[in-house]
Amino acid sequence: MTAVAEVVSPEKPKSITSGLDPRFKPRLYEHVGQNNSWTLEYALRHGAYEGAKKALAGTPESVQDEVKKAGLRGRGGAGFPTGVKWSFMPKEDGKPHYLVCNADESEPGTYKDRYLMEADPHQLLEGMLIGMHAIRANVGYIYIRGEYILGANRLNAAIAEARAAGILGENALGFGKSMEVHVHRGAGAYICGEETALMNSLEGLRANPRLKPPFPAQAGIFGMPSTVNNVVSIASAALIMRHGADWFSSMGTEKSKGNFLFHISGPIKRPGVYELPLGTTYREIIYTWGGGPTEPIKAFNPGGSSTPMLPFTDEILDMQADYENCAAKGTFLGTGGIILIPQNCDIVNMMYNYVRFYGHESCGKCTPCREGIGTWMNRIFQKLISGKGDPNDVKILEDLFGNIKGKSFCLLADSCIMPVQSAMKLFRDEFEYIAQHGKPMYTGYGNRWKDE
Ligand SMILES: Cc1cc2nc3c(=O)[nH]c(=O)nc-3n(C[C@H](O)[C@H](O)[C@H](O)COP(=O)(O)O)c2cc1C
Ligand code: SF4
Repeated sequence: MTAVAEVVSPEKPKSITSGLDPRFKPRLYEHVGQNNSWTLEYALRHGAYEGAKKALAGTPESVQDEVKKAGLRGRGGAGFPTGVKWSFMPKEDGKPHYLVCNADESEPGTYKDRYLMEADPHQLLEGMLIGMHAIRANVGYIYIRGEYILGANRLNAAIAEARAAGILGENALGFGKSMEVHVHRGAGAYICGEETALMNSLEGLRANPRLKPPFPAQAGIFGMPSTVNNVVSIASAALIMRHGADWFSSMGTEKSKGNFLFHISGPIKRPGVYELPLGTTYREIIYTWGGGPTEPIKAFNPGGSSTPMLPFTDEILDMQADYENCAAKGTFLGTGGIILIPQNCDIVNMMYNYVRFYGHESCGKCTPCREGIGTWMNRIFQKLISGKGDPNDVKILEDLFGNIKGKSFCLLADSCIMPVQSAMKLFRDEFEYIAQHGKPMYTGYGNRWKDE
């Protein structure tokens, strides 16, 4: 994967006929790929912390209002409006408040946060200062996936530089307010990205999700009011404060505003992260920017492995990628991590990979997820793939979907059922074929179970 090298400025490839506004300039990824972009000296030369100064000069409400006006929606997957989330925090309760940046990024097919943190940690720190001010917090945590060692090192170095320069500390940016940010490294579990499991993990507890209510804004980390936001949501707040809500909302569609990090994996000429306005069509993202697939494609997950797949048809390719259009097609914009599924890849084998992943990552707290995915679905997929299935297995799988989806404690279980269910809906013939003939319909990517 060559994500950093593949960030293409729209000004560069002159021959590309994209519907993109020529004034569009990547901002989140503006400095990715530049020498020393992670240093304070570089960041200050490029306008870092100007947005934070504007924010700290105003009230928490004025920052919330600016982010609401911009129309920023959470980039962690669910798309909840960021400014509205900040306004849920209590005002004068006398308790410590916390901002938690969710940098766990473990969703298969998702890798947008990683390069932002590695290349531009000061953009994220600036967003943290803004978010902390908006929710009246003096302390922020960045919970980063354990495998992101370079990102954690760069963030820690950026925090040390910012402390030494008085950007963080007792008198942050000279506004007389104490503001501290700490990096906390995870230990490699997907469930730690679920916001309440993340809070348990941050407290040193086992990463089991918590019952809601109480919601994090009422009782979050250490039992205190807290807000959890994704890396790109927080970095986007820095850009909104630097360039204004009107700049942000001038990009995108009527209800899906702003710049967005689409990123593509699978058989594609230029896999990588592409910063584009929301509402760019899937055809433009995949062909104009990604260079087009290297082999015939039958479907794709639009926003990470947990989003129901869409068929690779002209109608879908001409669809504008935004929250509303994806919802209308029964899926989610999600993280923007597009996973292309080749025609020659057996969908049952591929879904077995998904089931193994989610079964392995189940925290084990509730029975439908632990037993339903980890044991039952896993066994039926093994049976099908080893050539010992029978047509009844397809029906049993469907039965299991109904007993797991919506009946588990957190969304991890649904995150497994949704893509598998969509695969069964689109490619039921492949499931029935393997159950009936004992071999997959397509063998382009090998038969996982038999090859292992
Ligand atoms: C199993 C699971 C894993 C998740 N992993 C992540 C993650 O790695 N990063 C992330 O930002 N959100 C993740 N989320 C969503 C978070 O719970 C939460 O909605 C998000 O961090 C809120 O940030 P936002 O409002 O800025 O999008 C995950 C959710 C679930 C159910
Ligand atoms: S759905 Fe899965 S991950 Fe979520 S609480 Fe239940 S067992 Fe844990």
